[in-house]
Amino acid sequence: MEMSRRRLQLAFSFLFGLWLPCCLTQTTPPNSATPTPTPTPTASSPPQTQRLKVRLSGYPRKHNEGRVELFYKGEWGTICDDDFSIANAHVLCRQLGFVSATGWTHSAKYGKGQGKIWLDNVLCNGGEKSIEFCKSRGWGNSDCTHDEDAGVVCKDEKIPGFVDSNVIDAHVDEEHKVEEVRLRPVVAMAKKKLPITEGVVEVKYKDGWAQVCDVGWTVKNTRVICGMLGFPHERKVNKNFYKLFLERQKNHFHIHSVACTGTEVHLAACPLEFSRPNTTSSCAGGMPAVISCMPGPMFMENSGLKKKVKIANNVRLKGGAKLGEGRVEVLKNNEWGTVCDDRWNLLSASVVCRELGFGSAKEALTGARMGQGMGPVYMNEVKCVGVERSIWNCPFKNITSEDCQHMEDAAVRCNVPYMGLENSVRLTGGRTRYEGRVEVLNSDSNGTQSWGLICGESWSTKEAMVACRQLGLGYANQGLQETWYWDSSNVTEMVMSGVRCAGNEMALSQCQHHKTVSCQKAAAKFAAGVICSETASDLVLNASLVQQTVYIEDRPLHMLYCAAEEDCLSKSAAKANWPYGHRRLLRFSSQIHNIGRADFKPKAGRHSWVWHACHGHYHSMDIFTHYDLLNSNGTKVAEGHKASFCLEDTDCQEGVSKRYECANFGDQGITVGCWDLYRHDIDCQWIDITDVKPGNYIMQVVINPNHEVAESDFTNNAMRCNCKYDGHRIWLHNCHTGDAFSEEAERRFEKYPGQLNNKIS
Ligand SMILES: *[C@@H]1O[C@H](CO)[C@@H](O)[C@H](O)[C@H]1NC(C)=O
Ligand SMILES: *[C@@H]1O[C@H](CO)[C@@H](O)[C@H](O)[C@H]1NC(C)=O
Ligand SMILES: *[C@@H]1O[C@H](CO)[C@@H](O)[C@H](O)[C@H]1NC(C)=O
Ligand SMILES: *[C@@H]1O[C@H](CO)[C@@H](O)[C@H](O)[C@H]1NC(C)=O
Ligand SMILES: *[C@@H]1O[C@H](CO)[C@@H](O)[C@H](O)[C@H]1NC(C)=O
Ligand SMILES: *[C@@H]1O[C@H](CO)[C@@H](O)[C@H](O)[C@H]1NC(C)=O
Repeated sequence: MEMSRRRLQLAFSFLFGLWLPCCLTQTTPPNSATPTPTPTPTASSPPQTQRLKVRLSGYPRKHNEGRVELFYKGEWGTICDDDFSIANAHVLCRQLGFVSATGWTHSAKYGKGQGKIWLDNVLCNGGEKSIEFCKSRGWGNSDCTHDEDAGVVCKDEKIPGFVDSNVIDAHVDEEHKVEEVRLRPVVAMAKKKLPITEGVVEVKYKDGWAQVCDVGWTVKNTRVICGMLGFPHERKVNKNFYKLFLERQKNHFHIHSVACTGTEVHLAACPLEFSRPNTTSSCAGGMPAVISCMPGPMFMENSGLKKKVKIANNVRLKGGAKLGEGRVEVLKNNEWGTVCDDRWNLLSASVVCRELGFGSAKEALTGARMGQGMGPVYMNEVKCVGVERSIWNCPFKNITSEDCQHMEDAAVRCNVPYMGLENSVRLTGGRTRYEGRVEVLNSDSNGTQSWGLICGESWSTKEAMVACRQLGLGYANQGLQETWYWDSSNVTEMVMSGVRCAGNEMALSQCQHHKTVSCQKAAAKFAAGVICSETASDLVLNASLVQQTVYIEDRPLHMLYCAAEEDCLSKSAAKANWPYGHRRLLRFSSQIHNIGRADFKPKAGRHSWVWHACHGHYHSMDIFTHYDLLNSNGTKVAEGHKASFCLEDTDCQEGVSKRYECANFGDQGITVGCWDLYRHDIDCQWIDITDVKPGNYIMQVVINPNHEVAESDFTNNAMRCNCKYDGHRIWLHNCHTGDAFSEEAERRFEKYPGQLNNKIS
């Protein structure tokens, strides 16, 4: 009885934990875990000099869930699950730096803790700053055993500006907090374009914005603030220009004597002093601090400068939903690999962010939170000091995939400059804020701004990806060409048509589009729409398995009736003397992994799946892969059929369970952490090379070629190999996914067929 009641509670907390608007928008500053001097309902708070520490532990857990442990009186202990609630979980999650909780667990779900059970019968109302301000039986007073240890599941989203206590440990109270930092350009200067790179430093505190006294100011302080604002470097500023202006205005100084070392990721982590409230004269001999920052090349208008400022080409970010975030990948011997997350922290992450043209790091993520890589793992225990120009200059340990798995891939979220791009696009008509008709802000010749629609013709996932990115809503699940089923909007005018994006743009305005609007179906119901999603799948083919399993088979025609019916042979097969003769097939195994953060599911619903009687299963996608053989100029010499498949989890990584299977009209898809294997000996798993002459070629497999289903990364969808065919046997080498090599190595790879052809002739 007891158990079932609890399960119900858990289910409810998952349901309702999602809509607590108070907790989603609240910007809690760093040090939110600091006890505030407000009176407490119970007398169980620890001494004010000592800050209560909270951590998640146990197994199996993730970075955002686990058994709750509290550090009190020099000892770690747990919380009993009696009377536990989602409100308690909200308080704990916010103390841990997450925006809210999505659930909680009972009965030592993450294993039993050790030592003290610090709290029991905890009853928070949800808004408390710290668990110690909630009602309970008091510290150390419990009749529970560790079998009843409570755990929490936090929403996977950090409080903006939250800095981990192991990085920053300043003792500040409500009165003295630095919540946010901004640059205010002086009004006398012309209206500036975004991003704002220069101006008066202002910090947000309890009563508003205030200036910083610049006595003793150093470039190291400037560096820290530029980093927070998304800029990699600082530059000189003409103080005299500002002095005249600032002397005439009333300044209010909140902090002074700032002494950063330059590697801090937040101003609050620097030694600094607070001014007494409402004193304007607290900056004797100084003036408000004024700084100037150097933006990264992608945020620069001046193209001349752009060329001068180089960003690293041996480090990159992959799989992130937003600009400036992703899995960290590094280039070694012309091949990209990942970084293992042991000791991965904000200092090392900031070095990566800055060398890529962003500011300091907002978050250093562990446990493959931006998806897993596929190639080698190159580095572990990266320990940057913070002043290095590249992650390659930091101390680290060499490592192989045996020591560290891709489940531990390190990732970053960098501070990026505020560009205001999301202000010129919005979604209307959808059921949630993640979907709707796309409206863009348009200026007419008089400069009057109004919202307008985008023509649905030619609108695809690629364009939708850019729209979702610009909105800050992650990836596009779908790009819709018709939106009649959504509420009609007041906006009916089409203001954009012929949109064609490359896919990596930050805003729709950066994509190609018609100069003057031309839309065949100009009614609002044919306006472009999107469904955005915070996460997406990411499919990658195991290249080394293709290389290992390739062979040629001369297959008698009488065994190929089924294959012919499914269009798996080249055109000349139609003219063959059936059932006599054979086809020459290039066969290999395909192992397709989902290394993303969402399951890969066919776009079409099961009602439209096609039954293939010959092979006895349903096909859920018309075109799932292209198999091709290309010659030196890129022409297809053996157009592989456009394979359609039944998608399922053949096998999964340790700890992940299978969810999709083809048999019995089962659900189709590929779970994150699983793969779908098409063995070399199944029908249609080949390229028909009957008509191909001996020579050197490139063999190419492209998964999800039309981008029908959303993925976080399309650059790894192609797998290519050098292929040598002597008329009898076939060799594959250099098999690799599209994004695995350096540009230079890729150029060498592409030269291969031509070079050898020349030698032959
Ligand atoms: C300080 O300034 C704030 C707002 O400017 C004002 O509300 C408050 O009364 C002032 N306090 C004192 C002690 O002057
Ligand atoms: C790591 O390996 C490279 C060669 O691949 C070598 O030059 C370097 O010294 C090694 N570093 C360490 C810390 O072992
Ligand atoms: C621009 O302003 C002029 C004069 O006010 C007006 O006649 C014209 O219609 C306006 N054009 C647009 C596109 O609103
Ligand atoms: C549409 O116009 C009506 C009347 O002007 C207004 O009440 C409503 O809020 C508008 N809807 C949208 C989505 O702007
Ligand atoms: C890819 O295939 C190779 C060769 O069979 C295998 O050793 C390797 O584990 C596979 N990679 C992954 C990520 O499963
Ligand atoms: C590509 O090469 C083939 C023969 O290898 C030739 O027939 C064809 O014309 C070439 N195409 C182009 C565009 O050069």
